[in-house]
Amino acid sequence: METIRVGLLGCGVVGGATLRILRDHADELAARAGAPIEVVRVAVRDPERRREVELDPGTTTRNAADVVEDGSIQIVVEAMGGLEPARDLILRSIRSGKHVVTANKELLATAGGEVLQAAGTSGVDVLFEAAVGGGIPIIRPLRESLAGDRVRKVMGIVNGTTNFILTRMAETGESFAGALAEAERLGYAEADPSADVEGFDAAAKLAILATLAFGSGVVATDIPTEGITRVTSEDIAAAHDLGYVVKLVAVAETAGQQVSVRVHPAMLPRTHPLAAVRDVFNAIFVEAENVGELMFLGRGAGGAPTASAVVSDIVEIARNIVSGGRSPASAGYSRRAAIVPQEETLVRYYVVLSVLDQPGVLAAVAGAFADHGVSISSVRQEGSDDQATLVLITHLASEGRHRATFDQLEGLDTVKEIASKMRVEGTTEA
Ligand SMILES: NC(=O)c1ccc[n+]([C@@H]2O[C@H](COP(=O)([O-])OP(=O)(O)OC[C@H]3O[C@@H](n4cnc5c(N)ncnc54)[C@H](OP(=O)(O)O)[C@@H]3O)[C@@H](O)[C@H]2O)c1
Repeated sequence: METIRVGLLGCGVVGGATLRILRDHADELAARAGAPIEVVRVAVRDPERRREVELDPGTTTRNAADVVEDGSIQIVVEAMGGLEPARDLILRSIRSGKHVVTANKELLATAGGEVLQAAGTSGVDVLFEAAVGGGIPIIRPLRESLAGDRVRKVMGIVNGTTNFILTRMAETGESFAGALAEAERLGYAEADPSADVEGFDAAAKLAILATLAFGSGVVATDIPTEGITRVTSEDIAAAHDLGYVVKLVAVAETAGQQVSVRVHPAMLPRTHPLAAVRDVFNAIFVEAENVGELMFLGRGAGGAPTASAVVSDIVEIARNIVSGGRSPASAGYSRRAAIVPQEETLVRYYVVLSVLDQPGVLAAVAGAFADHGVSISSVRQEGSDDQATLVLITHLASEGRHRATFDQLEGLDTVKEIASKMRVEGTTEA
């Protein structure tokens, strides 16, 4: 049996755990792959840095080109992260006939089309099970297991840091800042948490999920993205009173020939399967025409879970090398999706209005909604002295109609302020 030769670009959290699994389970993996798998070259920035796995000085280099240009390497595992030089190194690997495994969502969400097209031209595999949901198998199910069905909607909690923060806020009444500080203390948040809390990490993952689910390319910049920095513990408590939980959701759904995509905090009914996903866990809820509803749950980050997915890709490619086959192409990257403009996206809103407690207020508020064709599903009034609060939930209507309604409400003398508003997802209507 000929040994399958692997080169590692990066040996940090993910690369290090990948190397450890390949070493510790070598015999088992060789039996599954049909050939032994050996890491013959590892590129890192600083070979002297202390790390959890021991690097063999004979195979370690600071020069990533040593991996890419080594003609004996068959599989390059990119676990460096970032756009460049990762993109360039992956493209050079592909053009020299190497298969590639990557966990790099940022790269796939911006340059996925270019990378997958190059793979097609060179006849090599590019696999990326670890790029979304860490250790959760979701790429292969979307690409292969659901090939016989039509996916209608994908809704995920795909960022563990924000899910941890929202869980702490809900369960302890902590503020956003306090919960973020705790996430940092526990090592769940990066030194610069903006990619997580502003929703950009979730948007990159959603671009990949939507591309595979609907077979047409979505890139991160297509996705209207709103993070959780403005969510307050009062919002979460109010949602709880109404039977909802607040989650950062990444949603992609078909709308005729178009695709609707969005990332934002949303209220989900407590009975929705995603509502039960706590702490750093991730989950992806998929609705398809024939199979109905599916849910994939697990650890969306961390060295070992993510490396579990990376190693599964390495084994798949090793099997292909042994059998002379190829993995199924990742359909969708060859053409761009038609995206529903944000103003036309259909949503429901929860709105809290602080209003004057006087006759005619309710009629004026209802009129503003009616003027823009937004119908109200429920309304609750809480009053005290000359001030009252109206809590409304709307039926499905476009973002544009909702926005026009909010503008009109803000101009009413009887409305003091829109104290809070949040989209509602996961009801039978949406
Ligand atoms: N961490 C997770 O839980 C997780 C989950 C899913 C996906 N991912 C993705 O996996 C990828 C890797 O993440 P990570 O957390 O493992 O990152 P990390 O711990 O920062 O590791 C990055 C590695 O790349 C090396 N590196 C960076 N630039 C290099 C260069 N120019 N030349 C050679 N080596 C270079 C670093 O070398 P040194 O060790 O010498 O610094 C380090 O070993 C990212 O795309 C990330 O988005 C991570």
